[in-house]
Amino acid sequence: MKKPILIGIAGGTGSGKSTVAREIFRSFPSEKICIIMQDSYYKDQSSLSFEDRIRTNYDHPNAFDTELLIRHLKDLLDGKKIEKPIYDFTVHNRKAEVEIVEPREIIILEGILILDDKALRDMMDVKIYVDTDADLRILRRLVRDIRDRGRTMESVIEQYLTVVRPMHLQFIEPTKRYADLIIPEGGKNKVAIDVLVAKIRQHLG
Ligand code: CTP
Repeated sequence: MKKPILIGIAGGTGSGKSTVAREIFRSFPSEKICIIMQDSYYKDQSSLSFEDRIRTNYDHPNAFDTELLIRHLKDLLDGKKIEKPIYDFTVHNRKAEVEIVEPREIIILEGILILDDKALRDMMDVKIYVDTDADLRILRRLVRDIRDRGRTMESVIEQYLTVVRPMHLQFIEPTKRYADLIIPEGGKNKVAIDVLVAKIRQHLG
């Protein structure tokens, strides 16, 4: 297998990172591409009670097991399969099971803080920041967290104002400077997706 290409897609909560990742994924045969979400690498919190897990700051770089993420990405780049953790947002913890991910020629890494860590950044061939206005991001998050992540409207608003917003301004937004490409309005930006797909095709030869 040719040396894989690693594409990093960063951006704030609800910016449309996963839509960009999915659009790129759909443009290639599934045996050539995989998506790794940084969310899967939230630290194991089995030793904490549910109440303590609710109180964890999930928008701080320390919330992630970045060492494991880097090890897994190195394995994938070396053509080895990995046992990826599976995260359950409804209980704020890793599941007991893991998912086997086979090495692929195109690896997409998606997450709020993937551009924060220098070692991680240095592994990426292309670094993207999806830049979407905060009002759109919070509206999307509100809908998604109530629908898919077992939250109430009050809890989403409280978490956004006390943790998500300040952490975004302190840690996530500043990583925009490391991006090779800044994509306005995520998944709806067809021109940006087409440019990325062309870049990846060029790499594959
Ligand atoms: N988070 C949470 N509870 C947890 C773990 C994480 O509420 N137990 C939240 C964090 O507050 C963080 C968000 O999950 O802000 C990260 O996911 P997000 O970027 O919103 O989701 P994606 O689908 O990856 O991104 P996008 O909406 O851009 O597609």
